[in-house]
Amino acid sequence: MDRPHRRRGETPAATNQQLELFPLLESAPAVQESKDSGGVREGTASPVTSEIAAASASFVAADLFSSANREDPLAAQLASCQGLDEISSIARQCRRCRLRAGCKQVVFGEGNPHAELMVVGEAPGATEDELGRPFVGRAGQLLDRMLAATGFTREEVYITNTVKCRPPDNRVPAPDERETCFPYLQAQIAMIRPRMILCLGSPSLQTLVGPEARITRDHGKWFNWRGVPVIATFHPAALLRDPSKKPLAWQDLLELRRKFIEIGGHFHGLRGAEGQKTRSGVTPDTGDAAAEQSQSQTAHVGRRSG
Ligand code: URA
Repeated sequence: MDRPHRRRGETPAATNQQLELFPLLESAPAVQESKDSGGVREGTASPVTSEIAAASASFVAADLFSSANREDPLAAQLASCQGLDEISSIARQCRRCRLRAGCKQVVFGEGNPHAELMVVGEAPGATEDELGRPFVGRAGQLLDRMLAATGFTREEVYITNTVKCRPPDNRVPAPDERETCFPYLQAQIAMIRPRMILCLGSPSLQTLVGPEARITRDHGKWFNWRGVPVIATFHPAALLRDPSKKPLAWQDLLELRRKFIEIGGHFHGLRGAEGQKTRSGVTPDTGDAAAEQSQSQTAHVGRRSG
């Protein structure tokens, strides 16, 4: 179980560069006490142990398709797809729910097809619907800064949503719409095989963890979805509406970063053409720079067990 140890009232620290990228601490309140891990979806989610996290690097795509889901002909069709392009072209023809009739286009997702971190938002908004790309409006700009502050470039991660079509008037996607769209998300995860998933906001967390999950209670905790470690933080749109949540989000991102390094994740963004190749073929920055940065952050936020 991962329990960050932090003295009551101690605020997370960040480098100047991080503060510039993601100015979280402007109004930092006392940081909440450490939280227990927990899990809910289908009774299978559980706190992520290091063993599960390490195993996630080697799970096979087929394992990601639950037996229940295999009964959905779409899930079966998607399970046989050879790549994200094939899944995307099926999604673009999709008329399985009411959302497609009310939006301009399907916003499938974008990013590194071999991403080690996958980000799952809620649903496309107006700008995304216009441009056909996820997280390109104001919330997307904040997401880019959150990723950068955590050590990731937008290009090295993969970004998608629980539903691929914009809900009318930007309403929250209904549970049945998320369920209907779920085979696409499942297929994306199976194809990309990320080391970790970051959920943004309640609908995303509930989609992967279960309807009982609550972002206010469960952000920053580790869950797993078929062996893939899952962590959630507040949606960037929520942080724009209520900046007092930013220090909590920053804690969540530090925890993501800590675990990502612990399980051998690679940061590609910080260095150019040196270093070893990864399975994505992108040159990583896993080396001393990331480790040093992490150590200095860990020193700032206090010792953590697990
Ligand atoms: N909010 C989301 O949840 N997803 C997007 O793509 C854009 C805004």
